[in-house]
Amino acid sequence: MKKASMTLDKSYRVGPIDPRMYGSFIEHLGRAVYGGIYEPGHPMADEQGFRRDVLEKVREIGVPVVRYPGGNFVSGFNWEDSVGPKDQRPKRLDLAWFTTETNAVGMHEFADWAKKADTQVMYAINLGTRGPENARDVVEYANHKGGSKFSDMRIQNGAKEPFGIKLWCLGNEMDGPWQMGHKTAVEYGRVANEAAKMMKWVDPSIELVACGSSSYQMPTFGDWELQMLNECYENIDYVSLHRYYGNPTNDTPGFLARSMDLDDFIHTVVAICDAVKGKKHSKKQINLSFDEWNVWYHSSEQDKEIWKREKWGPALPLLEDVYNFEDALLVGSMLITFLRNADRVKVACLAQLVNVIAPIMTRTGGGCWAQTIFYPYMHASRYGRGTALQAIVDTPVYDCKDYEGVPLIDATATQDDDGSVTVFCVNRDMTDDFCLDIDLRSFGNLKLKEHILLHHDDVKAVNTEENPGNVAPSVGPGGKVDGGKAEIKIPALSWNVIRFEKA
Ligand code: AHR
Repeated sequence: MKKASMTLDKSYRVGPIDPRMYGSFIEHLGRAVYGGIYEPGHPMADEQGFRRDVLEKVREIGVPVVRYPGGNFVSGFNWEDSVGPKDQRPKRLDLAWFTTETNAVGMHEFADWAKKADTQVMYAINLGTRGPENARDVVEYANHKGGSKFSDMRIQNGAKEPFGIKLWCLGNEMDGPWQMGHKTAVEYGRVANEAAKMMKWVDPSIELVACGSSSYQMPTFGDWELQMLNECYENIDYVSLHRYYGNPTNDTPGFLARSMDLDDFIHTVVAICDAVKGKKHSKKQINLSFDEWNVWYHSSEQDKEIWKREKWGPALPLLEDVYNFEDALLVGSMLITFLRNADRVKVACLAQLVNVIAPIMTRTGGGCWAQTIFYPYMHASRYGRGTALQAIVDTPVYDCKDYEGVPLIDATATQDDDGSVTVFCVNRDMTDDFCLDIDLRSFGNLKLKEHILLHHDDVKAVNTEENPGNVAPSVGPGGKVDGGKAEIKIPALSWNVIRFEKA
């Protein structure tokens, strides 16, 4: 068996893990809302039309925050259309996804859903077709206690108590030409700054995410961050990052190495934020909100066909990627990368949550099941809480097309408040098992609580409604712990969660 080692020490810490690192995203896109979280008439629907089976799966993951209502959708969205009596809400053409938005689910309904899902709302405002005035109004509507035009409108619409939304996105991907109201960095930075000031004057307790470039690959990347931050640095709290990976050339080792790019991306944005901090002689640190991340490529051709057949239909089945086993491994490595950077990545949203590039799938009128990527996400959210540890990992490496020195064992660890330690590990080796030696001596007397394993012999294996358990966690081979040193067997191509607790 090949060998790798991990040294942990309770005093070597990256920092506290913000639970919002395990956030997700629901956009008015495809069947995320209509046919996803909301399907009145479905046998599992509750009195408000929310699917109980979906809610159960969301709670099973433990999703601390959900970004809403977009995405590209938000750049043409009027929040006022989504409140008030349902029968008076307008149907609007959504130019982001070429569908018709019925507004049957709006701000109040989503706040109710979030309560049922045990999550917080991260609300995105429209800085595409709208501006600071509207930004001010929506915060007043959502968060002001009453006695003003918009807060009284909320009360009249049935919500006496403010929604108390703490985290707000200042638009979405504003450097993308595909975005309604696309802007230059300086145009956006100015608008974001004015919106931010007014939003915080209404409610000083809120936190704001400014749009970073829509991707590391964008020609605007880098300069966008510098110029945009130059305009709004003191009034915002986070910069957003978005990143999706694909495997169109069917190169599994290369695909699994993509988390190296994610790590570079994070370090580059941190460096830019700190450069602007230095230039401005500021005391304030801007952190990162990685509010869209996932694998996304399986459904691209299918979507083109859908749009050829039909535009403007409500709830078109768009972006319905069916995830395979190798996708789950990369999602695991992406989560490990966030944990390694927990000192600066405070918010991260797996995009998205239901049906649209999602861990949870439904059939309209039918069942609900977990895709392969559900599992690493759920495991990290459930067990990766507390403090991120600085793990020293010594592992053989490999080279692939885009990267040299890719660790075969990709691993990190966390310590929870009760003293338990969890190791998250992806074995990228296509053929060989590893013995992972873990030095745990500084934590006192720990014993192995469980080894959770996700493995399938076929990297392309998927879960379906008919076969939802095809790719599912099982009990891992585990190993021994002796004198604070563990030896754990890590099977070839696998996601592993190794949990140690006080003996
Ligand atoms: O998550 C799907 C889309 O990807 C979002 O609407 C957009 O922000 C990104 O380009």
